[in-house]
Amino acid sequence: MQQKIDEILAYLNNKLTAAKSSADCQAIRVEILGKSGKITELFRLIKDVPNEQKSAVGQLLNGAKQQAESLISAKEVAVANEELNQQIFSAKKIDITLPAPKCTGSLHPRTIVQREIEEVFTSMGFVVEDGNEVETEYNNFTAVNVPENHPARDMQDTFWLDNGQVLKTHTSASQNRILKKYPLPIRAIFPGRCFRNEDVDAGHENTFFQLEGIIVDKEVSVGNLIYFMKEMLSKIFKKEVEIRLRPGFFPFTEPSFEMDVRCPFCDGKGCPTCKNGGWIELCPCGMIHPQVLKNAGINPEEYSGCAFGLGLDRMTMLTFGINDIRELNSGNLKLLKQFGIKN
Ligand code: DAH
Repeated sequence: MQQKIDEILAYLNNKLTAAKSSADCQAIRVEILGKSGKITELFRLIKDVPNEQKSAVGQLLNGAKQQAESLISAKEVAVANEELNQQIFSAKKIDITLPAPKCTGSLHPRTIVQREIEEVFTSMGFVVEDGNEVETEYNNFTAVNVPENHPARDMQDTFWLDNGQVLKTHTSASQNRILKKYPLPIRAIFPGRCFRNEDVDAGHENTFFQLEGIIVDKEVSVGNLIYFMKEMLSKIFKKEVEIRLRPGFFPFTEPSFEMDVRCPFCDGKGCPTCKNGGWIELCPCGMIHPQVLKNAGINPEEYSGCAFGLGLDRMTMLTFGINDIRELNSGNLKLLKQFGIKN
C-alpha cells in the first residue's frame, strides 16, 4: 500500500509542477481526490485488507489524503494569486495617469428641485436659510401659535426627545428664529427636513422635506403671495401657470389658504397627474398671524407678512413623475440616478 501511495504522490507532484491555471488544479483535484480519484480508489481496497491491519492502512491512507489535499490547495492558492497578478499588471493594465471618469455620482432629484427653487427665489431678493432639525417645543409649536392642546403636539404625531425637544414637524418651526435674526423687511426661504410620527405609504413619509417662505414688510398682501408663487412655479414648470386659492386653516396664518396650480402637464384638461381634476393641490399658505409676528417682537400694526409651506418631496415627485414618496429616501440608485440631470 505504501508503495502505491508513494507512486500516486510522486505522480501528483509531477502534475502539480506542470499545472498552470485554476482549471488545471481543479482537474488534478478530481483525478486524485474526486469520487473515482486515485486516492479515493485506494480506500476501496481496505475491505480486502486483513482485519488486524485495517486500522494501520486506514491511517496510512488518511495521511496520504491529507498530504494530497495540502499539496493541491497550496498550488491552487499560488495559481490564483498568479492569475490575479496577471489580470492587474499585464492583461488589464491600469493607467494611473488617466484623468478620473467624469461622472462619479448624480444629484438627488430633491436636491435638483430645491436648488432650482432657491435660484428663483434668490433672484427675487430672498435669503436662503437653514433650520435646526431638533427644535424647542416653543419654536415648533408655541411661537407659531399652535395651541397647548393641539393634537399635533401629541406623542402620536410628533417625535419627542427625552429632553423635551422635538424633531421639527414642519419648517414653520424656523419662522421665529429667522424673524428675529434679520432686520425688517424680510424675504426668506428655508428648506428643511421634517419628521412626523406617521405610518409610511406611497404618499406619506415619517421623514420628508418642506420649503417654507416668509415675506414681512409694510403692507404685504395676499397679492404678494400670489405674485411670488406664480413667478416661482412658472420658472420651475417653464411656462406661465395659473393658480387658485381655497380657504384653509392653520394656527399660524390668518387667513389661511390652500394653493392649487392648474395642472401644468395637461393644462387643466385632465390627466393622471391631476387625477383628471385639472388642478393640483400644491401648498398651504396664508397671511402670517399677528401673534406670530408679536412672538418675534414685530409690531403687527406696522408690519404684515405672508408665508407658504411647499412640500419639497411633492414638488420633486411632480417634476420628475415619481409616484411613490418612499423612493426619495430609499437610496435606490437605479431610480435616483435617472434624474441626475433634469429635462
Ligand atoms: N407648517 C404647515 C404644515 O406643515 C404648512 C404651512 C401652512 C406653512 C401654511 C405655512 C403656511 O407657512 O402659511 O402643515
